[in-house]
Amino acid sequence: MNIHGFDFHTGYLDRKAQEELVDCLRQIVQKAPFFRPQMPRTGKPFSVEMTSAGPLGWVCDKRNGYRYQNFHPATENPWPPMPGVLLSVWQDLTGYDKLPECCLINLYRGEKPKMGLHRDQDEHDLDAPVVSISLGDTAVFRMGGKNRSDPTRSIKLNSGDAVTFGGDARLNYHGIDRIITNSSTLLREGGRINLTLRRVNL
Ligand code: SIN
Ligand code: FE2
Repeated sequence: MNIHGFDFHTGYLDRKAQEELVDCLRQIVQKAPFFRPQMPRTGKPFSVEMTSAGPLGWVCDKRNGYRYQNFHPATENPWPPMPGVLLSVWQDLTGYDKLPECCLINLYRGEKPKMGLHRDQDEHDLDAPVVSISLGDTAVFRMGGKNRSDPTRSIKLNSGDAVTFGGDARLNYHGIDRIITNSSTLLREGGRINLTLRRVNL
């Protein structure tokens, strides 16, 4: 795959690192449980559940649409802190001088979870790359271009893979077509977790 600014790091985290990260996520989810966002306007529920760690979390509901906020929408508590290990991953993969403010945690489990083609465009700092880490079952990821109608390519993301989108690819369309059930033994409850690290503020 040769899209300038889009980098694919196959097998970035080894099994031990993945297991440690999952333990860390279990603690986060105890404090900030997964919730199911709704599409703006229609209120249609997402097939993916979400939560966040770090100073800001990404939320979406019928009334107020897509946004970052500093508290969990159900508990109204601040999001749990960003795990230190993810700050090291950010530094290693991006070298960016500002820290990520949001670790969005997406859970793909249950009936045909997917994520439609979209751009990550709710951030003010578009110079900062986006880092995405895959854990658990393999995802069929679709990478497109700057316009929704541009050609796309399909790539499998396995547990431990990391991808970064920066530079020219920062606002490229992307999505998840489907999850290959039972393709990984990492998560005992099955399914896939995606972590997306983002800098929001300038
Ligand atoms: C996203 O684009 O927000 C998630 C991508 C993924 O699950 O790999
Ligand atoms: Fe995205």
